[in-house]
Amino acid sequence: MSHLIGELSPPVRLLCGTGPTNPDPRVLRAMGAPVLGQFDPAFTAIMTDVMELGRQVFRTVNPRTFAISGTGRAGMEAGIASLVEPGDRVLVANCGRFGDLFVDLATRYGGIVSQVTAEWGKVIDPQQIDAALQRTRPKIVAVVHGETSTGMLQPMLDEIGRTCRRHEALLVVDAVVTLGGMPVDTDAWQIDLGSAGTQKCIGCPSGMAPITYGARAEEVITSRKTPIISNYLDLAQLQRYWSPERLNHHTLPTSMTYGLHEALRLIVNEGLEARWTRHQRTGDALKAGLEAMGIQLFGDPKHRLPMITAMMLPEGVPDEEGRARLLEEFGVEVATSFGPLRGRIWRIGTMGYNAELRTVLTVLTALEHVLRSFYARVPRGAGVDEARRVYERAAS
Ligand SMILES: Cc1ncc(COP(=O)(O)O)c(C=O)c1O
Repeated sequence: MSHLIGELSPPVRLLCGTGPTNPDPRVLRAMGAPVLGQFDPAFTAIMTDVMELGRQVFRTVNPRTFAISGTGRAGMEAGIASLVEPGDRVLVANCGRFGDLFVDLATRYGGIVSQVTAEWGKVIDPQQIDAALQRTRPKIVAVVHGETSTGMLQPMLDEIGRTCRRHEALLVVDAVVTLGGMPVDTDAWQIDLGSAGTQKCIGCPSGMAPITYGARAEEVITSRKTPIISNYLDLAQLQRYWSPERLNHHTLPTSMTYGLHEALRLIVNEGLEARWTRHQRTGDALKAGLEAMGIQLFGDPKHRLPMITAMMLPEGVPDEEGRARLLEEFGVEVATSFGPLRGRIWRIGTMGYNAELRTVLTVLTALEHVLRSFYARVPRGAGVDEARRVYERAAS
């Protein structure tokens, strides 16, 4: 007997986890536009626009700026798969789950990996990278710009970039959580290959990974002694697809490409500086509101990301049940954490379309009620008042 399945009707949520974030409605509208064939000139013109808009957002003149079909880690994997040959030395700056991911990727593609590490909640000192470069002479240095797992921002990428050049190593940067929400200065910081994801500050659903790389990385990719192990993530082929040559590779996901086009267009139209300021103000207001509620923030205060706020869970509040209550009663999603932090911190994302005061006020209100329902000592109204004050003060 056939069984009728009802029409899809997902609930509307306020997505304040670590991504996806709620896309701007204009992005979702663009994704509903008619599907085109991948070699239709109307579509290849859209691809060309995505490349140009991507250059503006990555702040680069790299001709090789396009998007990988796949989520954020597909961008990281494309970079590592295409640059690392078996036996190459790779140095990873690792202080969280996405540093671990770089270690895993570089190992899988045959790299000999060494690491400089810091405990979760701290960042890497660039001098440690300099010392490790002298010791291990790697071909590639991989750094996570925003470590979403801990809410930490790796500072001094410009200095790390200079150090890598001095030692003739390539600098590969994961900008998945930072691109579109704060400066990622690809050319000025001498990043050889940077990649991102669409579902965070870019403000699109997940499904593509913007990527950019310069001449030094391209030279390494195209003059390898061994073939790139992955076909799907082979940048040597993909760069010919994303070029006037349009060499057939995979079938580009049309609707995602439209979404990315619209999301990047919105960023460029808003203006990068204005967008960064909006993310900073929102993150500052959220942090101030949480502290006014007596909630401790996690990690080194000097290096907190604007778009991800990591808060310590008050005594007695159960992680899963607490988040379930936020979701069911208020429609608000926040994220738990991984590894040593699981059950101890919640991570709140204020990214893209959601980087606004209204998001902060809603999240703080929902948190106040839910935390109090578990008997946490949280004062009424203090978080919202303080967040509003800090947000407004930043405007004056
Ligand atoms: C810093 C960072 N790198 C990589 C990833 C992986 O991206 P995705 O989940 O889109 O594959 C994430 C996702 O949370 C991230 O925050």
